[in-house]
Amino acid sequence: MKKLFIASITAALLFSASAHSAEAPAVAASCSGCHGADGNSVVPNFPKLAGQHAAYIEKQLKDFRGGFRKDATMAPFAKNLTDENIKELGAFYASQPAK
Ligand code: HEC
Repeated sequence: MKKLFIASITAALLFSASAHSAEAPAVAASCSGCHGADGNSVVPNFPKLAGQHAAYIEKQLKDFRGGFRKDATMAPFAKNLTDENIKELGAFYASQPAK
């Protein structure tokens, strides 16, 4: 009985962890116009984010925010992101299948 209880807790934790990473953080609403709701942009000028490595996405966002990577279109959207926003965005887009 005790084992079953532990197994169901583990399953619940695993499920909520994966459900969390697939859920779009609120801040992603400001990105979807260009990069698509799931990170699969349909316009060649806007890079696809779906399926990119989270660490890569995080680095690009920090570089845009800090002005190390320059792009007049993208920079204003990275400017006000917090480290927490960036972490969530990286995890979210990395969890989306590239189409
Ligand atoms: C107005 C359109 C627009 C919006 C809105 C926008 N972006 Fe971008 N984004 C771009 C463009 C254009 C580039 C390519 C810049 C370049 O050529 O260096 C880009 C590049 C990126 C990259 C780098 C991708 C790569 O492959 O190197 C990331 C990551 C990114 N955007 C994330 C975001 C996130 C997260 C948001 C929302 C907070 C967002 N963008 C909002 C236009 C936009």
